[in-house]
Amino acid sequence: MGDLPMTNVLITGAAGFIGFALADALSRRADTNVFVVDNFIRGECDAAYKELCSRDSVVAFDLDLTDRNAVRELPESIDLILHMAALNGTQNFYERPYDVVRCSTLPTFHLLDRYGSSSGLKRFVYAGSSEAYAGTVSTFDWPVPTAEDVPLCITDPSNLRWSYGGSKLHGEVLVTAACHQYEKDHTIIRYHNVYGPRMGDKHVVPDFLERMKNGVYSLYGHSDTRSFIYIDDAVRATLMLADCAGAANQTVNLGSENEVQIVDIGKMLLELAGIDAEIELHDSPKGSVARRSPDTTKLKKLTGFTEEIALSDGLRRTMDYYIR
Ligand SMILES: NC(=O)c1ccc[n+]([C@@H]2O[C@H](COP(=O)([O-])OP(=O)(O)OC[C@H]3O[C@@H](n4cnc5c(N)ncnc54)[C@H](O)[C@@H]3O)[C@@H](O)[C@H]2O)c1
Repeated sequence: MGDLPMTNVLITGAAGFIGFALADALSRRADTNVFVVDNFIRGECDAAYKELCSRDSVVAFDLDLTDRNAVRELPESIDLILHMAALNGTQNFYERPYDVVRCSTLPTFHLLDRYGSSSGLKRFVYAGSSEAYAGTVSTFDWPVPTAEDVPLCITDPSNLRWSYGGSKLHGEVLVTAACHQYEKDHTIIRYHNVYGPRMGDKHVVPDFLERMKNGVYSLYGHSDTRSFIYIDDAVRATLMLADCAGAANQTVNLGSENEVQIVDIGKMLLELAGIDAEIELHDSPKGSVARRSPDTTKLKKLTGFTEEIALSDGLRRTMDYYIR
């Protein structure tokens, strides 16, 4: 344990990918009560979530955080908030952009209104996104790996893709402003391509695995690059930051610096599955960023974090989950 008390922790979006893994880890700690919230707009109330909620240290709330009155039902005494709830997924950006904006802004307002003036809150941790860099990297050719202090921009608010990235950026401004005014500490974590079991089916790794199951080896955005970090490493880094005095009122990249081409992910998955097949290559969806990789100097300096799970190992574990 580090610098902050973690007796009562509120995790939003806990039926989702990262929120669930955080709740799972924290619920195993002695002396930590975990309050989990989700409305299942994306995450599922599956057997794993039900088992989590049945643990003695966990109290679950099935409520919509866009509803201000519902947020008032949450417990008063909270030390730490890990705010993971948002509506992600490229298809959602185009098909239900208003829901994306609502779910990625209103919960943040309501939580800050509810807990900003509460004397017990020690830290508000906000899940920012690597999407913050999309405009900067594609328009101004800023260096990759990208550090936290580059200027950020929204290239085209009329492009529905920005429903998500714009909301996440707005969230950063909102958290910074509210925490300043309420004199609370916050940490903004810009996640970069976390992957692993139970991540849903909308991201590149599970998407390829689902097709692979049916003998279809097609891959989208093959020449783009990304840096993938395994969920266990992402959870460890998140909790290190949440617990670290030096990370108070800081924005920190969380990810791997191992930048790989998407086509190499496809090749590694085929090799792990022992399949000798040609991959059918397709261009990336419109608006997708060609390169994405975080500069993680700040994360390492603040917490001493080092990645433990190699990409091949993480992909194998993920494949074991999706192809059972
Ligand atoms: N996974 C990544 O690689 C990644 C990358 C960048 C940023 N992020 C950010 O990290 C956070 C967690 O990501 P994730 O991959 O676990 O997402 P996820 O979609 O798996 O989980 C988000 C959860 O929030 C819940 N939710 C959404 N709106 C809600 C509402 N109004 N009320 C209650 N619950 C609501 C959803 O049902 C879902 O279970 C998100 O804020 C996301 O923007 C993740």
